[in-house]
Amino acid sequence: MSTHTSNTKITTTKIRAMKGPGSIVSLTAYTKPMAALMDPYVDLIIVGDSTGMVAYGFDSTLPVTLDMMIQHGAAVTRGAASACVVVDMPFGSYQESRQQAYRNAARVLVESGAQAVKMEGGLELVDTVTFLVERGIPVMPHIGLRPQHANAQGGFRAQGRDDAATGRLLEEARAFQAAGAFSLLVEGVFESAARAITEAVAIPTIGIGASRACDGQVLVTEDILGLFSDYTPKFAKRYVDLSAQIKTVFADYEREVRGGDFPGDEHCFGMKK
Ligand code: KIV
Repeated sequence: MSTHTSNTKITTTKIRAMKGPGSIVSLTAYTKPMAALMDPYVDLIIVGDSTGMVAYGFDSTLPVTLDMMIQHGAAVTRGAASACVVVDMPFGSYQESRQQAYRNAARVLVESGAQAVKMEGGLELVDTVTFLVERGIPVMPHIGLRPQHANAQGGFRAQGRDDAATGRLLEEARAFQAAGAFSLLVEGVFESAARAITEAVAIPTIGIGASRACDGQVLVTEDILGLFSDYTPKFAKRYVDLSAQIKTVFADYEREVRGGDFPGDEHCFGMKK
């Protein structure tokens, strides 16, 4: 059931107020057609740097560039009539200094038309978030499992497995709220940590692999459609196996072309008698 009744754009201010279990429905998108298909059903579309692995076939998200994210962001905003669009800042585009982060985040907003940026980080990023928010750039910090930090975090491992780790996540969440973040992306954390974070902050938490304790949920669209199987995390529910259906179509097409059944008369420009 769609909750959208009009094409009114959902703002980051509105997202900030959407607190409570199941409040925010979100998916990733990298292209205009996919964004347009999901727009009536989601509040938030995240243009994730997961595009590097899902669409480009990289082993990690690290090779994704700012220009790639801007082009995907622009495509998605053209398809998103009402959903709020947030674009991921890729590795190396914001960590050097808050000035670098501002310059690149401003480019993302101006050139893609998105409403906010997402940045992976911990306490070291708080100062940068403050700097951007004070200058008019809405930011969604991404805490917990941070794929851009996989080399430093020991791979793709769930976070917050004990009290000390949960305490660190809580400290980050509170600091990002104080810095003016409009929401928090919480990836791959144990349920107890997700609950503690969600209860500790007034801004909404959007979870991926972070249990029902979060205020919203996001998944990588290609995972739920069965279009990406190179790496399938435990939390990625597959609603349909579109890969199998697509292969059937390709096989039908091949058979018809080789058998002379396509194109049919109705697909040809015939001479008028
Ligand atoms: O890159 C990505 O797709 C993400 C998701 C967790 C939203 O960061």
